[in-house]
Amino acid sequence: MITKRENMFFLSGKGFSYIIRISPEGYILHDYFGAPVSPLPYGEDSRGWYCFQAEGSDGACVDELRTEYPCYGHTDLGSPAVMASRQPVLKYKSHEIVPGKPALKGLPSALPDGAETLVITAADEVIGVEVRLFYSVYQDQGVLCRHAEITNLADAPLTLDRAYSASLAFPGADYEEMHFAGSWGRERRPVSNSLVQGVYRIGNARGGSGHQMNPFVILKEKGAGEEHGGCFGFMLVYSGDHMTEIEVDQRGRTRVHQGINPFGFEKTLVKGETFTAPECLLAYGDGLGALSRSLHDFIRERICRGPWSRRERPILINNWEATYMDFNEEKLLSIASLAAELGIELFVLDDGWFGKRDNDRSSLGDWVVNRSKIPSGISGLAEKVNALGLKFGLWFEPEMVSPDSDLYRAHPDWAVRAERGPALVRSQLVLDLTRPEVREYVINAVNSALDSANIEYVKWDMNRYITDMPRKGFNYEYTLGLYEVMDAITSSHPNVLFEGCSGGGGRFDAGILCYMPQIWTSDDTDPLERLYIQYGTSFGYPPSTMGSHVTESPNQHTGRRPSMETRGAVSMSCNFGYELDITKLDEADREAVKRQTALCRELRGLVAFGDFYRLLDPFSDGVGGWMSVSKDKSRAFVFVMRALFRPNSAPMRLRLKGLDPAARYSVGGESFMGDMLMNRGIAVSFPFGDGASVSMILEKIEGSAE
Ligand code: DGJ
Repeated sequence: MITKRENMFFLSGKGFSYIIRISPEGYILHDYFGAPVSPLPYGEDSRGWYCFQAEGSDGACVDELRTEYPCYGHTDLGSPAVMASRQPVLKYKSHEIVPGKPALKGLPSALPDGAETLVITAADEVIGVEVRLFYSVYQDQGVLCRHAEITNLADAPLTLDRAYSASLAFPGADYEEMHFAGSWGRERRPVSNSLVQGVYRIGNARGGSGHQMNPFVILKEKGAGEEHGGCFGFMLVYSGDHMTEIEVDQRGRTRVHQGINPFGFEKTLVKGETFTAPECLLAYGDGLGALSRSLHDFIRERICRGPWSRRERPILINNWEATYMDFNEEKLLSIASLAAELGIELFVLDDGWFGKRDNDRSSLGDWVVNRSKIPSGISGLAEKVNALGLKFGLWFEPEMVSPDSDLYRAHPDWAVRAERGPALVRSQLVLDLTRPEVREYVINAVNSALDSANIEYVKWDMNRYITDMPRKGFNYEYTLGLYEVMDAITSSHPNVLFEGCSGGGGRFDAGILCYMPQIWTSDDTDPLERLYIQYGTSFGYPPSTMGSHVTESPNQHTGRRPSMETRGAVSMSCNFGYELDITKLDEADREAVKRQTALCRELRGLVAFGDFYRLLDPFSDGVGGWMSVSKDKSRAFVFVMRALFRPNSAPMRLRLKGLDPAARYSVGGESFMGDMLMNRGIAVSFPFGDGASVSMILEKIEGSAE
């Protein structure tokens, strides 16, 4: 709900309030963000004594104020949200409150269903710049969406060097920042730092949101944990270069900005032209768990879209780790046919099916089937796979070109290159999606492949970053081009399930999730590694967005030898699948696969669409775990894993979360009251050895409250 009373705007969503105040001088001030409060006006806080009482022409020292979209200069000396060739000083001009939520031009954004939006127009009449600040709230969601639009109203061009999406100023500095750092194979590890005076920058400038720093940052009150304490989430709906900047100023106040990374960014606006910054999701939770659950609901219900966003996902088998590029039709069909017998529902053909791609040195861009490997072609193969009772899915890497390809030979200038020439990474180059003819080629090539056969799933990969920006602003324009291409392909194939991927989880962000409801979480499929990766990813993103597959033992990335049970259990917590040569499994493991696929069918709705609770932090305890509870609290799935076996350690008692305290649940042949399970806990005995896991299913016993 949004109301204006006197000089204040009161915004509220599920579990939070957000208050904006217009100061007597016309500055747009941030007043409050946090737990719900009554929407009743009150006076401005004392501005206090400030040692440099430098006064602006209107009598205010702007450095002293906590503005909603700060601009450097005119007594404002903090880190600004915008930097331009003519630096504005913004004052309130007008506002409107509109039902729904305007779309962001050229950018993905949250769905408008049930939203209400406050648009505040601020202006600098002297230099001819107008900034519109957008705030959308939903009564059923714990997330507020913000972005900014900047318009040049003057004759002279206006060049933006920085234009963040949102900025938020907190009154104190008793916070820790938490971000999600990593690398290929080790994505999204939570890292926390106490803040002291200075500037912290968490970002990436690689042309993709990146394995290294996720565009999601949490500011938490000191002492806040899973269950209690103010936690503020900032998530950018953007897949390119991003930045979250946190400044603790000289007076001990904290400001967070989030938006496009200013490094390498530039946008020049002619008269009347508007720049739209990407959307930023702000979430508040009392505790990290509540914050995550708000974001999970929002991502499932307002970011992901299309028929698959609310549907249970098929259990897949992907041939990548089974065969890499060394396969033929017969081999693929042998895997698919056994997969059907074992209860798998979708067969995905990964890299290596097109051009003359037998290794990663050729053919990207030539999206034409290699008939020497697949004589029936993609449509024939899809028919044969369908005849076995499986859906058929296909891998693409649409943004790339190999120098050894017909596409590159015909259009060498279509590859991204700086003046010194293109730089190869994984023997490939990035296609210049800032060019309309390149976008058109990619859209047509992928669309015609999709229209040529019964393809019901697509894995959209991206295996290298942009390492040489040809010009300032390129990576931003590339990202807009990418979104145009993704939009054209996904919207013309609404029934295809798309899965994003980028060398594993190198582009795991809310921007991609607006086009594709799931993303391959990491190439690292070792269950122990996945415990950390999935745990870290869960802070921002729900299990319905993460892919997780059972692969072979010893694991190809770590050499560890996890049991089939553990491999299955950790993957069961996400979109479940297999990525190994199942024809080589012995009878016992085949039976295990049958049991797992049956169990997955029973649990996947609960896991994908239930409430997610982190139980134990593997980074600090060496034991990690989580559970999913159905929205009606009638069922739950619990997973815990111990990284290292310690001889002679005491048995563990695990306290569960999110259950109905007054209901009785059956678990492992016994039954317990919900309050008992949550307060006293339940005994867990791990199997012998490192990386051992325990899973439990809880079912509410009907009519059992006692
Ligand atoms: C990287 C992906 O993460 C893998 O799953 C696989 O699809 C390869 N690319 C194929 O090149």
